[in-house]
Amino acid sequence: MQKVNKFLPVSRPALSEETIEEVVKVLRSGWLATGPITQQFEGKLSEYFGGRTAMCFSSATAGLQAALMAIGVGEGDEVITTSMTFAATANVIALLRAKPVFVDIDRTTFNIDPQRILDACTSRTKAIMPVHYAGLPVDLDPIYEIAQRRNLRVIEDAAHAMGSAYKGKRIGTFGDIQVFSFHPIKNMTSGEGGCVVSNSPAEQRFLNLQRFHGIDRSIWDRFSKNASCYYDVVYPGSKSNMSDLQSILGIHQLKEVEQLNAKRRTLADRYRIAFADVVDKIVPQGIPSYDFVHSGHLFPICVADASSKDDLMSFLKENFIGTTPYYQPVHLFSYYRDTFGYKEGDLEHTEYVGKRIISIPLYPTLENYEQDYIIDTIKKFFR
Ligand SMILES: Cc1ncc(COP(=O)(O)O)c(C=O)c1O
Repeated sequence: MQKVNKFLPVSRPALSEETIEEVVKVLRSGWLATGPITQQFEGKLSEYFGGRTAMCFSSATAGLQAALMAIGVGEGDEVITTSMTFAATANVIALLRAKPVFVDIDRTTFNIDPQRILDACTSRTKAIMPVHYAGLPVDLDPIYEIAQRRNLRVIEDAAHAMGSAYKGKRIGTFGDIQVFSFHPIKNMTSGEGGCVVSNSPAEQRFLNLQRFHGIDRSIWDRFSKNASCYYDVVYPGSKSNMSDLQSILGIHQLKEVEQLNAKRRTLADRYRIAFADVVDKIVPQGIPSYDFVHSGHLFPICVADASSKDDLMSFLKENFIGTTPYYQPVHLFSYYRDTFGYKEGDLEHTEYVGKRIISIPLYPTLENYEQDYIIDTIKKFFR
């Protein structure tokens, strides 16, 4: 086996030289804030999402919060979501003084179990916020059916799902609202950033005001030649716009994302084949029966014996292999226990998976010999 002499992180952004050169050009251009390049990026994203409107934000977190505000979520409302996610998904609900109602996951796919959603609906439920965990699309048909029956909105946390597809349709090209992340760990990056894809012009107008101080014109419009520099504030908005410096990165990453995802999927398939003879020790994410495309964002594995999880992570770290416990169930964080009374035992499958799950390195520039070394080291631990 070829020797590996560097640390292998869980994730690493894949930036081409051409992309880096384009970023430098923007750096030299004299305009770094939100402007024509962000407009161009939004246009390209809209093409990618089948002509639907895509609006860039400084992060998916900011986009999720703005989307919840756009559909009118506020104090006393409930939003149904999963606890097997990054804290951002639930934090944005709690920040608006609404209650995140956590529904248990399917123990094999690690995604929210749509069969349990209806039971969690109350008269206060405003929205359902499923997460396409690791890039595996949630079973959306039953979720949209419940939403239609109960007159609820759906905000898909698609932070992991750039390039994922459900039943032949790319995530973001259909449905209600989707929010993507362009954080450097994600399948494509703009340094930091995210976008909200939606259908409603009224909600888009709100999103636009929310992301830039409630000002009715863009900063670029005001600084352009012959334009009036005066503006009006029609809403006490926030500041969560994306800069041109970030957008140029996004434009080039978007061109490459399909090819980068294909590499991720090839690596994920190699892991699956390699771990087929140790499924009594480690179980990868399960495959649903419906047609889907996985973005290959993460490669999560569940160790059969929960007590070996931390030892495995330490062993891999000693051997220069990064892992992360994606995710610790959100409902068991102290804020959620103290504020909403969640406790151990509330979500059987989420807690089962939470005690066992780790993500191992998966990124497009991971070389086969490096992956072989990771596989070999994991198997060595169990031997
Ligand atoms: C499932 C999920 N939702 C939301 C976010 C927030 O994304 P961002 O870092 O772009 O705010 C993340 C980030 O890791 C995530 O994993």
